[in-house]
Amino acid sequence: MPVRMGTIPQMGNSLKANIGHTPIIPLEKMSSGLPCTIYAKAEMLNPGGSLKDRLALSLIESAEKEGRLCKGGTVIEVTSGNTGIAVSWICAVKGYRALIVMSDKNSREKQDMMKLFGAELILTPHTVKPDDARSNYMTAERLASEVPNSVYLDQYNNPANIDCHYRTTGPEIWEQTEGLVDCVIAGAGTGGTISGIGRFLKERNPGIQIVAIDSVGSIFTPYFETGDVPQAEHYEVEGIGSDKLIGAMDFEVVDKFIPVPDRDAFLTARKLARQEGLFCGGSSGAVLSAAGKYLRDRTDIKFPVIVLADSGNRYLSKLYSDEWMRSMKYL
Ligand SMILES: Cc1ncc(COP(=O)(O)O)c(C=O)c1O
Repeated sequence: MPVRMGTIPQMGNSLKANIGHTPIIPLEKMSSGLPCTIYAKAEMLNPGGSLKDRLALSLIESAEKEGRLCKGGTVIEVTSGNTGIAVSWICAVKGYRALIVMSDKNSREKQDMMKLFGAELILTPHTVKPDDARSNYMTAERLASEVPNSVYLDQYNNPANIDCHYRTTGPEIWEQTEGLVDCVIAGAGTGGTISGIGRFLKERNPGIQIVAIDSVGSIFTPYFETGDVPQAEHYEVEGIGSDKLIGAMDFEVVDKFIPVPDRDAFLTARKLARQEGLFCGGSSGAVLSAAGKYLRDRTDIKFPVIVLADSGNRYLSKLYSDEWMRSMKYL
């Protein structure tokens, strides 16, 4: 009996072949006591460990196609870490210089990962307001105007951010659930994930509930509920919430925003690891914590899908460190 071999991988196609098409996993233990099973789209299984691989590849390849990025070019991006990691490894493969701007609130592991792929990192103080010249946004804009032959991806305002999840993550969820999905719960950082998935799925079925998960202290929930933008307050969870309104967040497709306190986010992420063997970051914990509470009362929802945005390996010194958790009074 001959051994059946697979197809030989094609040279030059490895990036596209490896990114996306992540599995959807039922969370049996974490759904106990709920009227339905929670299904989790495991985005931490992307090669760079987060859903941002999809975005970075799409933004870099559209800059190439439009002729804005060519040999010897530099890619500049602002990030809470995951986009920076994704940009860094894709630039390593494609041979571009990566210049990453990130607030100093984000984990040490994220900084180390970007550097190991050869990226240059500029850390900005998290204590300054978004319009301060020292902020991450303003620093990236300044660099984009100073560095020759550079492209600033600007995930916070680039329409291609929403579009990337509209073209990939949304259709994957629809196909993997055979159109049965009736609720998606995902974190909102730039807003691209929830907006792109929501836009795609609502075109298929306008009744699908789209729930965005925010941090307590972020401006998204108060803006969604009142139309006013308050002063943001500090929160520890990385990747979700915002201190200003941004172009990649489409409030029209969202039915509800739920703000989650840091402690709930971190403790639920730890529980997810112990109960389901899934190793994810604090934003995934926030999503799951909010999903558990929201779905308890929504007996009409039968097939909820949550998005687990990134891997826990970049938070070993934070939420997975008992010492750090105790020092922050979360344990
Ligand atoms: C850990 C984590 N969770 C969730 C998100 C939210 O994704 P989006 O920026 O598409 O709203 C991000 C974005 O950076 C993230 O890093």
